[in-house]
Amino acid sequence: MIEVEDLHRHFGGFRAVDGATLRIEPKTITGLIGPNGAGKTTLFNVIAGVLPPTSGRVTMAGEDITGLPPHELFHKGLLRTFQIAHEFHSMTCQENLMMVPGGQTGETLWNTWFGRKRIADEERALRAKADEVLDFLTISHLRDQKAGQVSGGQKKLLELGRTMMVDAKIVFLDEVGAGVNRTLLNTIGDAILRLNKERDYTFVVIEHDMDFIGKISDHVICMAEGKVLAEGSLAEIKANEQVIEAYLGTGLKNKDQLAG
Ligand SMILES: Nc1ncnc2c1ncn2[C@@H]1O[C@H](COP(=O)(O)OP(=O)(O)OP(=O)(O)O)[C@@H](O)[C@H]1O
Ligand SMILES: [Mg+2]
Repeated sequence: MIEVEDLHRHFGGFRAVDGATLRIEPKTITGLIGPNGAGKTTLFNVIAGVLPPTSGRVTMAGEDITGLPPHELFHKGLLRTFQIAHEFHSMTCQENLMMVPGGQTGETLWNTWFGRKRIADEERALRAKADEVLDFLTISHLRDQKAGQVSGGQKKLLELGRTMMVDAKIVFLDEVGAGVNRTLLNTIGDAILRLNKERDYTFVVIEHDMDFIGKISDHVICMAEGKVLAEGSLAEIKANEQVIEAYLGTGLKNKDQLAG
């Protein structure tokens, strides 16, 4: 699905991503772990077109997608979730989902004059789709609530929901579990597993919560100092000497994260 070859992203003289090479197989859930500052978020940002790479190559299903802007990747089905921007807080959860671009008609003058019925039909379809997504995520009760008023975890579910408004193929999630309570974290985990099993979504998930990684991942990649340090099952990763050292080297907090 995705191949990353010798990817670099430097900031001045600092090598945040320093020759990362990895493969993401289709229809898998990959957990991306590593101590703080390992370069995980930077790697995501480069793959998702948010940051240009310093060098290296990213391909998706064999096609070179290196450095493509986010909206082009979006149309190819590659999505990275973003926090719901402040401007959208006063809109309802349903409306937030309906805002996701998806080639709606209605923008051109021609359509405004001649396509009123079509626009109304599309809006109805969009509304129905948003309701289906809310239902899938078990948050139908939040439909008419303002996005700014729901909890942090519910917002994360809504962010995941946005990827379901389009035909996503691969979704990159950066710390979906941060600051989320156990119950909601389980709901998020279940949604990820169901999207994977029922809709063939491929996921790459950055997370410090090892229980969560263990529960959802088929495969785990550990990064440290901008490189891929080890790959395998979570058990293999946790037993890997280099991995333990990398976590130990960056302090007690990181060591505890690994013990999870
Ligand atoms: N825009 C930037 N300018 C300069 N340095 C940056 C920039 N973005 C990230 N870095 C540095 O690159 C390194 C990797 O950061 P990154 O955010 O990718 O790590 P991470 O693995 O996501 O860490 P965490 O687990 O804490 O989120 C860090 O040392 C960070 O300070
Ligand atoms: Mg990060």
